[in-house]
Amino acid sequence: MTAAPHDASSRGAVSRPREQWTGQVGFILAAIGSAVGLGNIWRFPGVAYENGGGAFLIPYLVALLTAGIPILFLDYALGHRFRGAAPTAFRRVGRAFGRWTESLGWFQVAIAFVIGLYYTAVIAWALSYFVFSFDLRWGDDPAGFLTGEYLQVGDPGISFEFVPGVLIPLAIVWIAAIVVLAAGVAKGLQRVNVIFLPLLIVAFVVLVVRALFLDGAAEGLNALFTPDWEALANPDVWIAAYSQIFFSLSIAFGIMITYASYRRRRSNLTSPGLVVAFANSSFEILAGIGVFATLGFFAFQQGIAVAELEGLTGVGLSFITFPAIVSQMPGGPLFGILFFGSLALAGFTSLISVLQVVSAAIQEKFALSIRAAATGVGVVSAVLSVLIFSTTTGLLALDVTDQWANNIGIVASAVLTTILVIWVLRRGPELRAHLNAVSTFKVGWLWIAFVGVLAPVVLGYMLISRIVSLVVDGYADMPGWYLALFGWGTIVFLLVATLVTTLLRWRRSPDDFTPWPAFPVADPATAAQRKEASS
Ligand code: ALA
Repeated sequence: MTAAPHDASSRGAVSRPREQWTGQVGFILAAIGSAVGLGNIWRFPGVAYENGGGAFLIPYLVALLTAGIPILFLDYALGHRFRGAAPTAFRRVGRAFGRWTESLGWFQVAIAFVIGLYYTAVIAWALSYFVFSFDLRWGDDPAGFLTGEYLQVGDPGISFEFVPGVLIPLAIVWIAAIVVLAAGVAKGLQRVNVIFLPLLIVAFVVLVVRALFLDGAAEGLNALFTPDWEALANPDVWIAAYSQIFFSLSIAFGIMITYASYRRRRSNLTSPGLVVAFANSSFEILAGIGVFATLGFFAFQQGIAVAELEGLTGVGLSFITFPAIVSQMPGGPLFGILFFGSLALAGFTSLISVLQVVSAAIQEKFALSIRAAATGVGVVSAVLSVLIFSTTTGLLALDVTDQWANNIGIVASAVLTTILVIWVLRRGPELRAHLNAVSTFKVGWLWIAFVGVLAPVVLGYMLISRIVSLVVDGYADMPGWYLALFGWGTIVFLLVATLVTTLLRWRRSPDDFTPWPAFPVADPATAAQRKEASS
């Protein structure tokens, strides 16, 4: 069995080999850059605090080991063996059913497309706040500043009133992202990660060390890590842990399939996966420490307990609570610069991975050049992102879209992927052999059990209970019609986009393809001659 040196689906107008990372380190940096993102800094600390504090680390670790890492390996195996972005990989793994299985790839692409639209907006806010930190622009009312002067938030509704303060940084983020994507995998994505990731780590470590020396830091850490064991009996806590892991590890929405497809033929897949997963979780825990040490200082300043503070998660934590703290801290502007700078850097290295999912898929299906696909996808996304998220209703739309895309979109995608690959197509043993061919860390039957049995059962339960709760209780007291438009509307969009993109014709069929063995198969004649020569 030989592998084609060129991947037909990656050819543009001119025939060219599939792009590659320059080596294993380049890939690991890019994968960590993708995993470490807004989810680590603004989501994890609050989610952990609200779901049992120190005790949350148990469901978190269980979710990481039983679903996070196994599905990360599954994504790697699919992307590497079938050498394509999600739709190409799912089409090829589906063999005779390829036309139908391809649709799961497009579903993942559609999720990445939606996430890209609002993820950019949060990075744009972080950039603005990075600049605002120099003169503490939010004054003594950060909440009023965020929703009033900066975002100019209106009632839930549809608005075409653009907010220039958001529009300009948002446009800058989109232009930067398009330039990086158009430069390609090694010269664009990898280079940005090689520069930004070390910068992020240095900035964030300095921030955490500074936070640990603040008055009240120990109280903050106690608040985060004191375990509430009873929380473990609550299924919602387990659901929160699994959701966090999926978004955070960038799995089940096409990113790791796409990134693994740019690895060389003879690649160790599992060991870098473990490095990426543990680096991501370490960063997450570091963020928890930094954020809660800082919150401890804030509570200490006000003479209250950390539990009495408000706005400990998401938008409120980053853009209201943190600015308030920065204003009160000696050397506050520098702390603000480090925090918002880290948020923007972490966000940007994840954003480019999210957008690459869409760009690579379009590039392969329509046989476009890298530049054409990156520009086309970037411009369409940028226009939509600006229309929806730089208006006076941007904040509300973002919150609702994020809830539905994550809790329903990504989880549904993970359930469908595991059932399709393991049960319908029965490709578990083949993918396991592929993972083990070169990797030093071998996966056994337990991997198939986690991916094929535990993941669909746990995630299926999560998905159903989440849908029931959103239907019955709604979300954040928002009007039903608004949730229908931005929440359920997101799901309808995902399904329609999946259908349309699946039905469009391939400009160059992806089916003329031989799956890669993970290492070059030696020609028996040459091998015999070599043996003879060496004896
Ligand atoms: N993994 C990225 C994050 O955590 C998407 O934000």
